[in-house]
Amino acid sequence: MTEAPHIPVMLPEVLAALRPADGGVYVDGTLGAGGYTRGILDAAKTCRVIGVDRDQTAHDIAANWGGGYLDRLTLVKNSFGNLQSILSGLECDRVDGIVLDLGVSSMQFDDGERGFSFRFDAPLDMRMDSGSGQTAADIVNTMAEESLANLIYLYGEERKSRHIASAIVRARSVAKIDTTKKLAEIIRSVVRVSPRDKIDPSTRTFQALRIAVNDELGELEAVLSAAEKVLKPGGRLVIVTFHSLEDRIVKNFLQDRARPAPSPSRHLPIAIDVPQNRLSFSLVTKKPVLPSESELKINPRSRSAKLRAAIRLGDPV
Ligand SMILES: C[S@@+](CC[C@H](N)C(=O)[O-])C[C@H]1O[C@@H](n2cnc3c(N)ncnc32)[C@H](O)[C@@H]1O
Repeated sequence: MTEAPHIPVMLPEVLAALRPADGGVYVDGTLGAGGYTRGILDAAKTCRVIGVDRDQTAHDIAANWGGGYLDRLTLVKNSFGNLQSILSGLECDRVDGIVLDLGVSSMQFDDGERGFSFRFDAPLDMRMDSGSGQTAADIVNTMAEESLANLIYLYGEERKSRHIASAIVRARSVAKIDTTKKLAEIIRSVVRVSPRDKIDPSTRTFQALRIAVNDELGELEAVLSAAEKVLKPGGRLVIVTFHSLEDRIVKNFLQDRARPAPSPSRHLPIAIDVPQNRLSFSLVTKKPVLPSESELKINPRSRSAKLRAAIRLGDPV
């Protein structure tokens, strides 16, 4: 893989929201190059971190730096959506904090072999865990046209989704679409670059496929529900998102859990099902925290990052 300098996004803000403490146990669900994990381990000298990533590359990189932390670091190759079973496998029921830095890492994105980016010609793969699941090529070559259009519209927020899906179906009837270059050319044949929209016409479709291949939104929903169960009272959840679909899921979940359900009205007939009181978090951030001007200058990739954080309350779920 190509070497790209890795700069963890909003690390000081993440640590300020997580507040790692001595003796605490923290989960970094998105180990990546280890920027957050190392930040946590260095911030509290006797805390432990469970670093999870489903990409073997993250674990290969950790082999270079993890030795310095000995038994304070536990590495797990798995998906963070399986957080509860990961923790029970480690005989650790409850944790003091969970941090997530969603999406792909700059290392994955800049690796010309992985197929995440149209900037490199590569097999159309896009799997974070290259050992399992369907690839982006499987999706574009087999999915029904209408489902493909819906996927590109919903996950890519692409208004030209129907044109793109129809061009893909036409092209695949001639030859399999198996590389990033072929797919990008098909998309460019139907979507023109608008002068107002500086991004490449393929950007939104590639994002949509990546989200689908890795079930990114399903993973996020699963980890939010697991976090509610495994965080100790007072434990902190800190999440950095990179696009509006993810941020909306995190925002809605936390706002829902931080708002007491309305008390049953005296005027409601008994039979009406009153929502359960799910008050399980209090918000640390009412509005998302954004990267500072100085971070934007040194790391332009942080520009769409949004950090949200909450504290687990004591009530059982
Ligand atoms: C943006 S990077 C994290 C970078 C990290 N915070 C750092 O400072 O180096 C995201 C990482 O999360 C991993 N990842 C994304 N979704 C995952 C999931 N559902 N389960 C486990 N790992 C996941 C990716 O493989 C990638 O390595």
